[in-house]
Amino acid sequence: MASTILSLRDVTKRYGATLAVGPISLEVETGEFLTLLGPSGCGKTTTLHIIAGLLHPDEGRVTMGERDLTRVAPPYRDMGLVFQNYALFPHKTIAENVAFGLRMRNVGKPEIARRVAAMLDLVGLPGVEGRFPDQLSGGQRQRVALARALVIEPTVLLLDEPLSNLDALLRKRMRLELRDIQRRLGITTIFVTHDQDEAFEMSDRVALLNAGRIEQLGPPEALYDAPATRFVAEFIGEASLLEGRIVGRRDGEAAIELPGGTVVAAAAGPGTPGVGQSALLFVRPERVSLGPDQPGAAGLRVRVERRVFSGEVVSFALRTESGQSLLCKKPSVGEYRAVEPGTWLRATPIECRALAAGAP
Ligand SMILES: Nc1ncnc2c1ncn2[C@@H]1O[C@H](COP(=O)(O)OP(=O)(O)OP(=O)(O)O)[C@@H](O)[C@H]1O
Ligand SMILES: [Mg+2]
Repeated sequence: MASTILSLRDVTKRYGATLAVGPISLEVETGEFLTLLGPSGCGKTTTLHIIAGLLHPDEGRVTMGERDLTRVAPPYRDMGLVFQNYALFPHKTIAENVAFGLRMRNVGKPEIARRVAAMLDLVGLPGVEGRFPDQLSGGQRQRVALARALVIEPTVLLLDEPLSNLDALLRKRMRLELRDIQRRLGITTIFVTHDQDEAFEMSDRVALLNAGRIEQLGPPEALYDAPATRFVAEFIGEASLLEGRIVGRRDGEAAIELPGGTVVAAAAGPGTPGVGQSALLFVRPERVSLGPDQPGAAGLRVRVERRVFSGEVVSFALRTESGQSLLCKKPSVGEYRAVEPGTWLRATPIECRALAAGAP
């Protein structure tokens, strides 16, 4: 069983009349890579700064083990923070930058030199001790910021969009490198990003934030397969949401009737409406099976509106007889690879979910 290392209990933060965060409750497990994901302004940085101690919550508590951190100043929290803009000291050498936290803690000179060199080695930058930040590339500066946060051997590492200033290629490489270093050190990490791919590729668990609150928290697979709300369904990946009505409910399952009378079985959760109410059928594009439009055949009658070939996959924009759109993606092999716009087909959504219509 994983143990909890850090807890947030009903944390809120207001700026004047605006509620920036909360209430948020969160338990971070020892050694995990947890990501706070969400659109701009949803409260990611505010939450991270509350954890780091740079901001005080208006209500709620932050604890590490038995220790209440709410009133503990940042240097005494045993956390390493990498800011979005790295915030390296421009007039200090790389060695002095990395050594900063150790000097604050009165570590002896020979020990500092040894640990700085070992840390620069770890982030793949041996030998740059004597340079200044402006003599390094963006990606190298990012690694120095990481080394500076890690050298104090913090219990928790906090990263605020550390890859957002890098070009696309370097960004992808650094994702893997960062994840590698995190695994090797086994350090509990809280990572902030608005990039879903980044969150999914790196994290053990993802907390999706919406307007200062956690909309859903779980492994990437859970958010992708079983979004709890319309917000999650629309933020994560691609999906179609077909309007219908609940005509049957039992444990974990619902039957949704779509306009035209087709009834589709769907997984149901706590947020699924009851019988007789309107609902949304949530369908992932790779989970639509296609067949010929024959009399008596199963599935929704759909017309191909657009076909887009992008190499490994072919995407079809489909439209139902009642005018709802359904997206379908197929590997670009097999019989449907070449289906032309205008063709009528039968589409059967599989592994779908029933969601409350809610606010878009
Ligand atoms: N110092 C401040 N004064 C007033 N409002 C603030 C302040 N800092 C943040 N806010 C507001 O609090 C909310 C959350 O901001 P926060 O910086 O946490 O968002 P974020 O999720 O990190 O966004 P981004 O992805 O753009 O960095 C926003 O509505 C923002 O405008
Ligand atoms: Mg931010």
